[in-house]
Amino acid sequence: MSKYVFPENFVWGTATSSYQIEGAANEDGRGESIWDRFSKTPGKVNDGSNGDVACDHYHRYRDDVALMKDLGVRAYRFSVAWPRVLPKGRGATNAAGLDFYERLVDTLLAAGIEPYLTLYHWDLPQALQDEGGWANRATAEAFAAYADVVSKRLGDRVKKWITHNEPWCAALLSNQIGIHAPGLRDYRAALSVSHHLLLSHGLAVPVLRQNSPGAEVGITLNFAPTFPASRSAADLDAARHHDGYFNRWFLDPLFGRHYPADMIADYIEAGHLPPEGFTDVRPGDLKIIAAPCDFLGVNYYNRTVTRSDKVPEEENLPRTVHVAPRSEWTDMEWEVYPDALRQLLTRLHLEYGPAKLYVTENGASYSDGPDAEGRVRDERRTRFLRDHFVAARRAMDAGVPLAGYFVWSLLDNFEWERGYTQRFGIVWVDYTTQKRIPKDSALWYRGVIAANAVDEG
Ligand code: BGC
Ligand code: BGC
Repeated sequence: MSKYVFPENFVWGTATSSYQIEGAANEDGRGESIWDRFSKTPGKVNDGSNGDVACDHYHRYRDDVALMKDLGVRAYRFSVAWPRVLPKGRGATNAAGLDFYERLVDTLLAAGIEPYLTLYHWDLPQALQDEGGWANRATAEAFAAYADVVSKRLGDRVKKWITHNEPWCAALLSNQIGIHAPGLRDYRAALSVSHHLLLSHGLAVPVLRQNSPGAEVGITLNFAPTFPASRSAADLDAARHHDGYFNRWFLDPLFGRHYPADMIADYIEAGHLPPEGFTDVRPGDLKIIAAPCDFLGVNYYNRTVTRSDKVPEEENLPRTVHVAPRSEWTDMEWEVYPDALRQLLTRLHLEYGPAKLYVTENGASYSDGPDAEGRVRDERRTRFLRDHFVAARRAMDAGVPLAGYFVWSLLDNFEWERGYTQRFGIVWVDYTTQKRIPKDSALWYRGVIAANAVDEG
């Protein structure tokens, strides 16, 4: 059995987000967010639920921090709900909202857990959506002002800042595919959103640096490592397009390379951009977006296998990338494919060279619940995490400057359009009693952190 030892000071953490766990949606002056509005629109969330109560973390944060301390977790990635701090998105701040995050941060620090604060994990104030949301360039400026308010208050204690979580989701999943809030199906609007999200990131970076001296500032992207189903020209081109759509569209401008020219051409051809091109981009924007960062946050769940629909199946080459029969799937119906994490981290390092990387999310949805003794035997999650930790360690052997790893998620929680039907937690949540039970995977994770090493198993 091999042992994979991690470097000293490797940051082992867990992650959550505000709307998915906090609850207290109508307390202490919190404003409405687009997820309140969306989840209460019939048909949008498959079990008809919403985040009004969720894990009631707003009231139970002390217990949740104590739980993390007990697991030995060194860092906690959480997000701030913008409408708690600025109920209308801009203008008047809500003191009670800022107080909550201050209490949370102080409790974490007292427990020896370093806060990694994400400013935007999708709960845009509804008041800003009513003015066009992220499709409106003014929202980028409102975001920078919000970043200023939060970092003025917490910048002395929070030293790790993540501007955005997964702009692909906030732009495309939400405005092109339309299964996340605000639920639009408008490709052009979605591309405007993508630009304004990146612009807002670039505007916030100097603000965070100013208010939080010595801090590390970065952004988290989600990636879909893309594999063509065959080596045919058609499948390879489908892979190029998908990689551009999902990965390069965000990476390239962040690393100073403009939006990818092949994608601009594809989008013009498809009518998703006007013939003049990406007219939302104004002079100077690309420089703002490419503000140097201290790290890149990587969220990885699964890979994508692309098959061209431009060539009929029988005219294509035989498909060589198989996801069956040996693959496993999680309850999200996502394929388990750990090696793509190794490949992804290596690619990011070689092609973009961020100063540092963190895996800011990785984890799996499995429904295993308490047995007769009240124990949650979620071996599949343990195996999933172990195999992904090993994949990350192998990337580090190849020179990738990976500094930490945050398991998604600390708690079972509100899984967006799937409501409470999916359980990603290493801690079980009983939503009727709000009781928490660390699953076997959490106890295993405690051992990994204590040993700073993983057995291959
Ligand atoms: C998101 C989380 C979500 C997780 C599982 C990530 O893309 O950041 O909010 O719960 O995926 O779907
Ligand atoms: C899933 C969502 C998930 C999102 C972010 C989508 O593919 O359908 O449930 O929240 O990815 O991970």
